[in-house]
Amino acid sequence: MNTDSTDSTAGAEGTGGAGGTGGAAPGRPVLVTGGTGTLGRQVVRRLLDRQRAVRVMSRRARPAGDRAPYEWASCDLAKGRGIDAAVAGVDTIVHCATTLTGDDEAAARRLLGAVRESDTELRHFVYVSIVGIDRVPLGYYRRKLAAEGVLESSGLPYTVLRTTQFHDLIALMATCQRRLPVVFTLSGVSFQPVDSGEVADRLVELAQAEPAGRVADMGGPEVRTARDLARSTLDAYVRRRRVVPLRLPGRAFGAYRAGGHLAPERAVGRLTFEDHLAATGGSAGRPAR
Ligand SMILES: NC(=O)c1ccc[n+]([C@@H]2O[C@H](COP(=O)([O-])OP(=O)(O)OC[C@H]3O[C@@H](n4cnc5c(N)ncnc54)[C@H](OP(=O)(O)O)[C@@H]3O)[C@@H](O)[C@H]2O)c1
Repeated sequence: MNTDSTDSTAGAEGTGGAGGTGGAAPGRPVLVTGGTGTLGRQVVRRLLDRQRAVRVMSRRARPAGDRAPYEWASCDLAKGRGIDAAVAGVDTIVHCATTLTGDDEAAARRLLGAVRESDTELRHFVYVSIVGIDRVPLGYYRRKLAAEGVLESSGLPYTVLRTTQFHDLIALMATCQRRLPVVFTLSGVSFQPVDSGEVADRLVELAQAEPAGRVADMGGPEVRTARDLARSTLDAYVRRRRVVPLRLPGRAFGAYRAGGHLAPERAVGRLTFEDHLAATGGSAGRPAR
């Protein structure tokens, strides 16, 4: 049992309440955990476009002035705060919350435990995971794999979609180093980045369908070297930086070099990395810094 916070912002704030939603769609809501994140906010937008009632989960209070037509659940899956109220009465959960420093397995246990202990008749739990979590021995991946296991053994109706890295993350790997004189990349490693909007499309499609267990992986349209992707990012946003490939030791990086995180046979994404750079203002030519 998780402990609901006594904070007045905790729990689901519905239409007309302090969190004023401006007229949410009728019906039991879809709870989007991580609904403020890169992927989750795109899932939220697509569900609203389809006239679905939506509840956004975030650790934060609803921002003042947010009049979007969704409910808001202030909840911390790591601390076990606000979970019971967040899951109360939902139809479907699309679980996009994650934290690189936290424990996604424990978060999944708390979330699923709260559903089982509630009166909520959950129709569908959809989880987004990562291609190769069973092949690349990274701590974060181990916890994602364990979270999948928790879901599989929960007895709840579920679907799991594993995808490759998002374009956003691959671009960030270069731009976060923009203050350095050179930009480091992983030597011998390729990525197959996918558009997070296309992943959101797929998750919404899956959420509306019947629970299907683990479905076919989703990969981006191209497999390209980390060096090539960093060069494209720098050319688009930063320029005048040398790319320096680094060969890192350890089993995890060996598994990356072996392509354990790729799904070339599932290159179903359509939007390329260059499409992403163009859409986010990159190739429009930001001034060089
Ligand atoms: N990024 C990729 O390349 C990639 C590839 C494949 C799969 N995935 C998976 O896709 C999912 C979404 O990734 P993303 O890149 O969109 O993540 P993100 O942008 O980092 O967003 C993380 C979300 O998790 C929420 N969150 C963090 N800690 C929380 C906590 N303790 N309790 C409740 N909510 C919490 C955050 O909400 P607040 O900050 O508002 O609390 C935020 O909305 C993750 O499961 C990830 O493993 C990502």
